[in-house]
Amino acid sequence: MLGIFDSGVGGLTVAKEIKKLVPRQRIIYFGDTARVPWGNKSQETIQKYSEEIVRFLVSKGAKKIVIACNTASALTREYLQERYPSMIFYDVIDPCVKKIHIEKISRALIIGTRATIKSKAYEYPLLELLPRIKMYSQACPLFVPFIEEGLQEDRLLREITKKYLSRFVKKDIECVILGCTHYPLMKNIIKTVFNGKVKIINAAQEVALQVKDGCHDKHLDGDDIFYFSDWSEHNESFVKNIIGNKPNIKIHRLGS
Ligand code: DGL
Repeated sequence: MLGIFDSGVGGLTVAKEIKKLVPRQRIIYFGDTARVPWGNKSQETIQKYSEEIVRFLVSKGAKKIVIACNTASALTREYLQERYPSMIFYDVIDPCVKKIHIEKISRALIIGTRATIKSKAYEYPLLELLPRIKMYSQACPLFVPFIEEGLQEDRLLREITKKYLSRFVKKDIECVILGCTHYPLMKNIIKTVFNGKVKIINAAQEVALQVKDGCHDKHLDGDDIFYFSDWSEHNESFVKNIIGNKPNIKIHRLGS
């Protein structure tokens, strides 16, 4: 069983890509909707939340766990591995770093939450692999609330995107790394700011490829289960937008 977790519903973009590539892999998803967003929180809090979720996923039989949340990938990957040494963790940063390395990108822009950008979790490994790479980064804290409101095509979001990103247009950026679960849902707007002349690196797709490569287990049929720590009608429409059909949704409340 593959565990996948995120601060909320955004990690479903990762679950969706994984299911596209390994449809028979049974997944158990946990979205911490009661405590989202994590992107402006401290490392200590994000580690505590992530550890509680991992404990829950392990209790449900997860043998491998995907840290679908970029913020959690940036701030908790090593912490979780130390506490669960035999668990196979996938994070969403490592596969993007590998792709940029393989493609020998020389100018990249990383966008994400404040916590992800502040952590420099993309910069450190990339500068080791590609010491001459020119990296730019931008926190885009307004993107998540707009997308969660279903406004990913909205004119206001286009304006905000320009405000955050237009200063990079003249920098000859080769690729933009979508360093947040929600950004694949607005990738066309981001591309438009760069007049379509930029490659988009989608962490959700990259980690799905890595999971597929590591799936040597006999695939298990069975229901995927989507756990959330809180549930509202608003979540329902967002989830259906991404996953479609009728997901098997359960509520599980974690410690405060
Ligand atoms: N899931 C978070 C991420 O990918 C975005 C939402 C949040 O701030 O919790 O960084």
